[in-house]
Amino acid sequence: MKILVVGGGGREHAIIKKLKENKEITEIFALPGNGGMEQDATCVPIGAKDLDGIVKFAAEQKIDFAVVAPDDPLVLGCVDRLNAIGIPCFGPEAKAAIIEGSKVFSKNLMKKYGIPTAAYETFSEMDAALSYVRTCKAPVVIKADGLALGKGVIIAQTNEEAEDAVRSMMSDKIFGESGSNVVVEEFLEGPEVSVLAFTDGNVVKPMVSSMDHKRAHDNDEGLNTGGMGTVAPNPYYTNEIADACMEQIFLPTVKAMNAEGRTFRGCLYFGLMLTKDGPKVIEYNCRFGDPETQVVLPLLESDLFTVMKATAEGKLAETEVRFAEKHACCVVLASDGYPVKYESGYPITLPEQLAENEEIYIAGAKKKDGVLVNAGGRVLGAVATEDTLQAAIKSAYALADRIHFENAYCRRDIGQRALAAEK
Ligand code: AMP
Ligand code: GLY
Repeated sequence: MKILVVGGGGREHAIIKKLKENKEITEIFALPGNGGMEQDATCVPIGAKDLDGIVKFAAEQKIDFAVVAPDDPLVLGCVDRLNAIGIPCFGPEAKAAIIEGSKVFSKNLMKKYGIPTAAYETFSEMDAALSYVRTCKAPVVIKADGLALGKGVIIAQTNEEAEDAVRSMMSDKIFGESGSNVVVEEFLEGPEVSVLAFTDGNVVKPMVSSMDHKRAHDNDEGLNTGGMGTVAPNPYYTNEIADACMEQIFLPTVKAMNAEGRTFRGCLYFGLMLTKDGPKVIEYNCRFGDPETQVVLPLLESDLFTVMKATAEGKLAETEVRFAEKHACCVVLASDGYPVKYESGYPITLPEQLAENEEIYIAGAKKKDGVLVNAGGRVLGAVATEDTLQAAIKSAYALADRIHFENAYCRRDIGQRALAAEK
């Protein structure tokens, strides 16, 4: 069986390594993949947004099943295009991917169906947005409507900052066209939890919960990034909270999407905040998280391909999705200076041998004259699984310290907040 995976980051590397455990799969193509995953997949230089190129390649290669991992191709309709030529896919159609593609859509969905989220207003006119933020109680959260690589959110500490944020999005277009419409919302407080869930539009099977570390520096200082590390499970996410989320958030969301004629099949990512008034949705993503996937999939005991196929076919109810009762930690090694400015092209040395509980997922790297060099902000994730959180953190850092490139940078406190919460 031939599988195609669209995407080329650490998340895709984790998906590919897990898929490889299925013995029916004979070949995996990564489009475009990256130079660090060549031993696990055949990387083909077709960009994740090049839908024509992807469809042509899939047809030529007679691909049996495709996994579309990143937000852009999902929102652009990659799954629709592949389905149209008879290739089954894991991932939502464009009309369902809008749950991430438009924050205005997702906020209105939550309001209409009573799903708990931060109070908000949406604006397409700058003057109306400016008048509104002058009256809000600070801090105020301002979000660009469209996809902005997870960076389209500004938390303004004062009303003046909020006005500046509105102007920079709607007039200066710092996030491009994704800022033509903005959402202004109430600032929420509480621990954040990421829950990735398989859903086929009928049932929801959540994966083990996780905790991302979005800021660039220790103690959650510095700029927002795509994610500097993760642990799973998230100790704040108790069984009681999980039950409440299923009842108040997960099932209502899936039913709401059905009612709107936008059935969601794939991985639905719930970004949650556990407030004193209960769990609330901060954001939906229409895909696996990065680097959440890098700690969630190593704990998956069920066969990933079987689960993905069942999700696509609407047979998830009959399919077991089981996770190990263990802990995982991912430490991201980035190029120093990320997310602003960094140098690339430095050779990366990796350990020759990995233990069974260790994984290295390569993201921003490429081959240059046969040598793997850093080529992006987040370069790779060092992952370890252990029986306890403390041991997982220790092993992940021990692994990270066996990896070298000249301008490598990592946070040193991944998992510490989770560890404190456990106690
Ligand atoms: P998002 O891209 O929507 O995930 O937002 C990025 C980050 O901004 C989140 O992970 C939160 O830490 C923070 N954030 C977003 N919305 C809110 C909110 N309403 N209140 C407080 N923090 C928020
Ligand atoms: N780690 C956050 C995301 O994938 O959006």
